[in-house]
Amino acid sequence: MTLAALPPIPRASGSLPVLGHALQLLRDNLGFIASLRANYGPLVEITLQPGTRTVVVQDPALVRTMLVDLGPSLDKGRFFEKMGQLLGDSVVTAAGRHHVRKRRLLQSAFTPDAIARYVDTMREETAAAVGGWRRGRVLDVHRAMVGLSLDVLVKTVFSGTLDETAFRRLRRDLSVVMSGVGVRVMLPDWVERLPLPANRRFDRARDAVRATVGRAVTRLRASGHDTGDMLSLLLRARDEDSGRPLTEDQICSEILTLAVAGTETTASVLSWALYELARRPEVEDRVLAELADVLDGREVTFEDLPRLRYLTRVVTETLRLHHTGWLVTRRTVTETRLGRWVLPAGTELAYCQHALHRDPGLFPDPLRFDPDRWDDGSSPAGFLPFGAGKHKCIGDRFALTELLTALATIVREVRLTPFPGRVVTPVAGATVRPGRLLMTVRARESVAGG
Ligand code: HEM
Repeated sequence: MTLAALPPIPRASGSLPVLGHALQLLRDNLGFIASLRANYGPLVEITLQPGTRTVVVQDPALVRTMLVDLGPSLDKGRFFEKMGQLLGDSVVTAAGRHHVRKRRLLQSAFTPDAIARYVDTMREETAAAVGGWRRGRVLDVHRAMVGLSLDVLVKTVFSGTLDETAFRRLRRDLSVVMSGVGVRVMLPDWVERLPLPANRRFDRARDAVRATVGRAVTRLRASGHDTGDMLSLLLRARDEDSGRPLTEDQICSEILTLAVAGTETTASVLSWALYELARRPEVEDRVLAELADVLDGREVTFEDLPRLRYLTRVVTETLRLHHTGWLVTRRTVTETRLGRWVLPAGTELAYCQHALHRDPGLFPDPLRFDPDRWDDGSSPAGFLPFGAGKHKCIGDRFALTELLTALATIVREVRLTPFPGRVVTPVAGATVRPGRLLMTVRARESVAGG
């Protein structure tokens, strides 16, 4: 097929010579991407970084083709390349055969049996966090959820390997790395080389994480113990072809990546779920009734989770309305056909889950938070909370388990009340998260008692 016979891909209006669409993106990136869906067809071209052209895929069927059918032949694109530069080569940044091998090595840490073992840590960390919230005081909910997700991840990976001091240091350093990556994936590379305090802080924290993980690996290998934590599982994993274990350096990169891929995302969904529950007493009451019925006063365990059907619908609806992904990228390696189009090698591709999940053509009345839309168990084509194809989230089960366990533990203990009239808006950095989300913490009994 000659290129001339192909339908042209429209360019989004408003691109400036040097800046591309930077102004629109800086002003309101989510609004800009949502406007593309309203004004253009299945594919539209935008300029994210000067000199690069990115084709945004807007049609759900084409998004699926890109992720599933073309998945094995595409590179991961700019966003992930940047993560690789910052954190090292990992399952998130790898493509092709290299990715398949890495993914198999990590899989042992995410089996259903492994997840079942992590639930107690998830519940205990949540209970400890809630215990520390002062009743009657205002809580920065997103901040608290980022802290909680980080604690859960670090305890899951290192529960048997790190002492309390090393744990606290690692958690602090990872927190610096996480926010640093969020900022850096959006900025031109030269900004990282400036002698700014933020750059020095980032480099120091990343090196400190590598040193701490390195020490933990050496100690665990020398002891020969299986402590039952994720680090033990990663140390035991062997490459199917070569029979070799992960090196210390590879384990460091994978753990840094898991912390970045798995904590801000889970924390944002948790925050939005708490916000929606706080604003909708009728939904919260149904959640509490289900928890009373299923748990009968006990703490939540892994076996209870499948029976929390309504809470699962609340989580699913939160993943729809408040998805954390604003631009997931890929790149063509060779000339590639996508639907009716043929894209040259080196074309950057992207899709936006946040926009797709709010598409009125896929979800009637999309801005309404309605857990009952998931009553019949169906899943529309454009609903991709954890992606699809070979790069589908490896932590999906981990995340759902953490979301259900944490929510079940939090809502039974405290009631969070939002400030009247204050609407919380989404902010898109590396992920889409709530802007400032402040709520007052009240003990559940005092609310029940009026
Ligand atoms: C609600 C929370 C989460 C959401 C919404 C989410 C979403 C996603 C999505 C959409 C992808 C696919 C990206 C792509 O197509 O390139 C992905 C990949 C990934 N996620 Fe998650 N994720 C979450 C939690 C987690 C957790 C808890 C972990 C680990 C502890 C994790 C680790 C990963 C990894 C390693 C990948 C890359 C997989 C691969 O390329 O093979 N995620 N996630």
